[in-house]
Amino acid sequence: MNILILGSGGREHALAWAVMQNPKCGKLIVAPGNAGIEMIAECANFDINDGAAVVGFVEENAIDFVIIGPEAPLAAGVADDLRAAGVLTFGPSKAAAQLEASKAFTKEICDASGAPTAGYARFTEATPAKEYIRAQGAPIVVKADGLAAGKGVIVAMDEQAALDAIDDMFGGEFGAAGAEVVIEEFMEGEEASWFILCDGENVLPIGTAQDHKRVGDGDTGPNTGGMGAYSPAPVMSDSVIQKAMDEIVKPTVLEMAKRGMPYQGVLYAGFMIKDGQPRLVEYNCRFGDPECQVLMMRLGAQALDLLLAAAEGRLDQAQVNWADDHAITVVMAANGYPGAYAKGSVIKGLDTLPEDSKNMVFHAGTAVKDGAIVSVGGRVLNVTARGESLKEARDRAYAMIDGIEWPGGFNRTDIGWRAL
Ligand code: AMP
Ligand code: GLY
Repeated sequence: MNILILGSGGREHALAWAVMQNPKCGKLIVAPGNAGIEMIAECANFDINDGAAVVGFVEENAIDFVIIGPEAPLAAGVADDLRAAGVLTFGPSKAAAQLEASKAFTKEICDASGAPTAGYARFTEATPAKEYIRAQGAPIVVKADGLAAGKGVIVAMDEQAALDAIDDMFGGEFGAAGAEVVIEEFMEGEEASWFILCDGENVLPIGTAQDHKRVGDGDTGPNTGGMGAYSPAPVMSDSVIQKAMDEIVKPTVLEMAKRGMPYQGVLYAGFMIKDGQPRLVEYNCRFGDPECQVLMMRLGAQALDLLLAAAEGRLDQAQVNWADDHAITVVMAANGYPGAYAKGSVIKGLDTLPEDSKNMVFHAGTAVKDGAIVSVGGRVLNVTARGESLKEARDRAYAMIDGIEWPGGFNRTDIGWRAL
């Protein structure tokens, strides 16, 4: 079958790498893609947030299956447009994607389904929001309701920081995303993510992972989109997984179906775990980036069968063939990220690295210029490895990094420290 993947990050490179190993995969096109994806698939350039453009491309190119990577096209309703045109699609509808696109919506679903999460209140005006903050005290968490490219959450350790966040949000710093604000109880504990395929009714977990959001070693410095990840995450023990499924994930999927917005795609659940009890931090309606890289490394070719089963409503008959393995990915980012960074620095040594089922460099912000690979984004490479132990995987990933010559970039040296 001919497959189209939408997106241009390390997540989409990893999806393309896994999908194309499956004999069912015929022509594979990624839009817009990047320099790494170009080495394994055809890339095409059109507006992936424009449903009519996507449907038009699909029809012209005889695409049989579309996999939507990022949240923006999902929140724009591209999955709805594709399904309306009769195209088999992996990814939730616009209504179901509200689980990521609106924090207030997710809180409402938690209330209705009894899922444990942080206590909260919603506000559309600054004065009552500030009164609430003063009454609750710090630490406290202030969130813009809508999509804010991962920057709309302020974990305020003191009251003033929370009050300032209210001024910023209602002052328009996050545009329409900040027109409504959710203020949440601060939850303590260890964070982990869980990825669950859903077909509207049935669910199939495909792995746990832990991201590293801070830019610096020892979890220091500002937040980023994610500087590295590993899978599985030991904090997601069998009993935590059981509770997360029974108390949070299944009730959510049931509630969504009951509301006439069945969830189909991957549900990315972020939990805070304390004393063996998970509470929901957030949902995303897509794979995590870089978490997808470690999941695809572990799943390999079967990923396509699983995504197809989700899209076709047959997850009750699907199963994951697990190897007893571990995967890790270390992000290499341009110097200065997550602040201002330069583009265009040359990356050497990639062609000397092994590329197989245990070693892969997934590209994110890369392009080819004058025959060389150059950086064109903040997060640029995802050096990914698999092993029988996390330590083996980690050593393999850092050995690959030693072979990469890129003075314009940096990476964390301690990915996986919590589990090791
Ligand atoms: P979110 O975009 O909702 O995932 O929030 C970004 C990060 O903020 C999360 O990964 C957590 O580290 C932190 N965070 C969000 N909500 C809370 C909360 N209620 N308590 C503590 N930390 C939180
Ligand atoms: N790595 C965090 C995210 O994809 O949202």
